[in-house]
Amino acid sequence: MVEKTLSIIKPDAVERNLIGTIIAKFEKEGFKVLAMRLHHLTKDEAKDFYIEHKEKPFYNSLVEYMTSGPVVLMVLEREAAIAKNREVMGATNPKNAAPGTIRAQHALSMEKNSVHGSDSPSSAAREIEFFFSDLIRCC
Ligand code: RTP
Ligand code: MG
Repeated sequence: MVEKTLSIIKPDAVERNLIGTIIAKFEKEGFKVLAMRLHHLTKDEAKDFYIEHKEKPFYNSLVEYMTSGPVVLMVLEREAAIAKNREVMGATNPKNAAPGTIRAQHALSMEKNSVHGSDSPSSAAREIEFFFSDLIRCC
């Protein structure tokens, strides 16, 4: 089934000029970029976006990190986009990420792990609406 998923190129990767490298990888893996913009998250946006982690010990640090510089927000589309994006990203902790994945190649740490991807159809719907509500209405 053709699906859409939300992808974020996180501040550590934008800062190191890896935007083009990461988008090239997604395109090579058959993803279409349906929508994209550079954006500096506010504290409130980052807190709300990662609300599922509110009780986790890393929540405050995650919010600080995600607001430390600009990110690239993208809606990606392909067959089984949600699972395929998670596969191309690799495990959260780059030490456990499979060779060739974005996190294995570029992540700096468990936190500064270069990319975000929706983890289920419901999170993809919520996250696309969160940043690209126009896309939902028009397509
Ligand atoms: P994401 O939501 O960003 O795609 O990452 P994920 O599903 O692989 O990982 P998740 O458990 O949802 O965690 C969200 C982000 O929080 C940071 N994190 N830090 N220091 C820590 O123990 C820790 N654990 C998670 C990472 O930036 C992770 O991607
Ligand atoms: Mg997650």
